Order: sequence, then C-alpha cells, then structure tokens
Amino acid sequence: MKSLPVPADEALSDDILILPAGLSDLRAVRRLEKACFRREDIWPLVESLWVLTSPGMVRLKMVKSEEVIGFLSGYTLSGREVGWISSIGIAPAWQGRQLGERLLAAGEHALGTRVIRLTVRASNTPAIHLYERTGYRQIQTARGYYVGGEDGLVFEKLLSD
Ligand SMILES: CC(C)(COP(=O)(O)OP(=O)(O)OC[C@H]1O[C@@H](n2cnc3c(N)ncnc32)[C@H](O)[C@@H]1OP(=O)(O)O)[C@@H](O)C(=O)NCCC(=O)NCCS
Repeated sequence: MKSLPVPADEALSDDILILPAGLSDLRAVRRLEKACFRREDIWPLVESLWVLTSPGMVRLKMVKSEEVIGFLSGYTLSGREVGWISSIGIAPAWQGRQLGERLLAAGEHALGTRVIRLTVRASNTPAIHLYERTGYRQIQTARGYYVGGEDGLVFEKLLSD
C-alpha cells in the first residue's frame, strides 16, 4: 500500500472541502480505509461498492488538494428519525487536527435526523474521545460485536430542532 502524503505544517484551512462521494471515488476510499482501519475492519470490496452507489446513503469525502483525506458514510432508519454513521475515517497523517469533528458534523447535517447513532470498538480511544467531545453518549454495549470478539459501544447524539 502506498503511504498517504504527509501534510505540511501549514494550515488546514480553506482548501479542505467536504463533498458528496460516488463511484469515481472507489479507489481513493479503499485506499483511505486500508490506511485507517485494522485489517479485520476493512470492508469487503462489494460493501464499498454498495456504500458508494446505494440510493439514499450519505457518503461524504474530505478533500485537500484533490486528495481524499477523509470519508464518512451513513444511512437513515425509522422514517428518517434515526441516522446511523456507518463509517468515518481521517487519513493517519491528518488525524489529531479535529478534521474528524468537521466531517462528523457534516455527516450529521447530511443525515438530517434528530437522532444520530454509531458503533465503535471499545478500545478505540481517539474515536470515543471525538464522540464524547461532540455530544454523543453511550447508550448500549453490543457484546462481541466486532470481528475478534471485541465489544461495540453504541453512541447516540440528540440534535435539537
Ligand atoms: C476517529 C477519527 C475519525 C478521529 O478523527 P480526528 O480528525 O483524528 O479527530 P480529532 O482530531 O478530533 O481527534 C480525536 C481524538 O483522538 C486523539 N488523536 C487523534 N489522532 C491521534 C493519534 N495519532 N494519536 C493519539 N491520539 C490521537 C485526539 O487527541 C483527540 O482526542 P481528544 O478529544 O482527547 O483531544 C480518526 O482518528 C480515524 O480516522 N481513526 C481511524 C478510523 C476509525 O477508528 N474510525 C472510527 C470508527 S467508529
């Protein structure tokens, strides 16, 4: 796997865009996934294809200088009452700069539901910190949810109208 470019120290600012993603982003999204997630959590190709093409899914890419440095997907349930974030990742070289927060906020907005939920590995401290800092609270533990038997923690955020 090729490494993702290391960002210069200069700012993160304005030339970071969050845009709808589609099938033409397949390669970039797969590359990002492989860089972000442990092997057992990487979606099979068919699932990436489904996420990038299925009607009604939310899929957003974060782009800097034409490089995809972040990706989020989600879907809605219960007559658009509940939105689930199914994946969020920021390229390792760009982590720790609150870009995940920006992408998460964009995903929440795109889902447009009053309730947002997601599931996270119990050991994924950076992600849990991000969720807790942005108003999520744990509502459930899904025992043995992940490959390898690790628990999933289900987090929920209630958005005001
Ligand atoms: C989870 C993720 C999207 C957060 O994005 P981010 O842009 O790094 O988010 P933040 O900059 O807000 O950092 C979140 C927290 O992780 C910490 N963190 C981020 N990168 C880190 C690193 N390389 N080493 C240690 N801590 C790190 C930050 O300090 C922050 O903790 P804090 O809230 O206590 O300050 C990103 O870490 C990621 O892509 N992880 C791999 C994929 C993943 O696990 N996705 C979530 C699946 S549920």
